[in-house]
Amino acid sequence: MEQDLESFRSSVEDIVYHHPVVMDNTYTKWFAKGEASRGEVRHLAVQFSVFSHQFVEASLRKVINAADLQTYRAGKEILMNELGVVYRPAGARREAADTEDPELVGTEGSVDASTFRFSAAHFEWLLNFGAPLGLSFEDMGKRRHATPGTRFFCDELLRIYGAEDASIAEGASFAVEHWAAAGFWKELIAGLKAFKDRECPGLPLGFWIWHDKIEDQHAAHTSDELGQAFAMPEFDQEKFIQGAREMLDGVRAFWDGLWGDHVVGRAA
Ligand SMILES: [Fe+2]
Repeated sequence: MEQDLESFRSSVEDIVYHHPVVMDNTYTKWFAKGEASRGEVRHLAVQFSVFSHQFVEASLRKVINAADLQTYRAGKEILMNELGVVYRPAGARREAADTEDPELVGTEGSVDASTFRFSAAHFEWLLNFGAPLGLSFEDMGKRRHATPGTRFFCDELLRIYGAEDASIAEGASFAVEHWAAAGFWKELIAGLKAFKDRECPGLPLGFWIWHDKIEDQHAAHTSDELGQAFAMPEFDQEKFIQGAREMLDGVRAFWDGLWGDHVVGRAA
């Protein structure tokens, strides 16, 4: 049955806000307590780096499959920034902070007419995070390092977030953004700060802090992506919901995989 925008919005919010990975993420809740061992922090770093790299490929697919110029450009803002083009605030001659430290790199503006820096790639921030943990380039970001849960999540990202069908892709995108804004960055940062204070003073947390900052700002903006998707010419409500639900199941496989590894590791 076709619904109008407002009732469609409440059905979608019901599914997304009540999904277990948004409401109750066992792994990140535990991680926030700061009890993760060095090996567990390393494991998180490697699995997150595989996801982070695969997200770049899924974002490129999303750009290629975009239904209109506006979503094509919106996708490119994310893709290019991920690769190392810093956001430049509107009206600024160049990016506000002329720095490579992600704790100071801007989270507002556009990649248009901005600067590319190798060292501004989010993957390079993760490499810097991994270094004091003894992780080198070849230890991070490759599919061969993925556990089954991470691999499933990555495959779902490519299949759903990067889907050719715009209704499915928009559903996935809505789900990913709401998951990201639901607080998991803060939980990871809390746990990482505790670990850093306890045994790894040189650990740079910029990758995590920058992403948390951009989520906060995103939540404060009132851009109505659901409304825009709803207005697409070929919009299919069921496919949007299917994309959102399946994407969150993929996200859940990632975190549940990490939780399972923690439980098995502690029992061994
Ligand atoms: Fe990123």
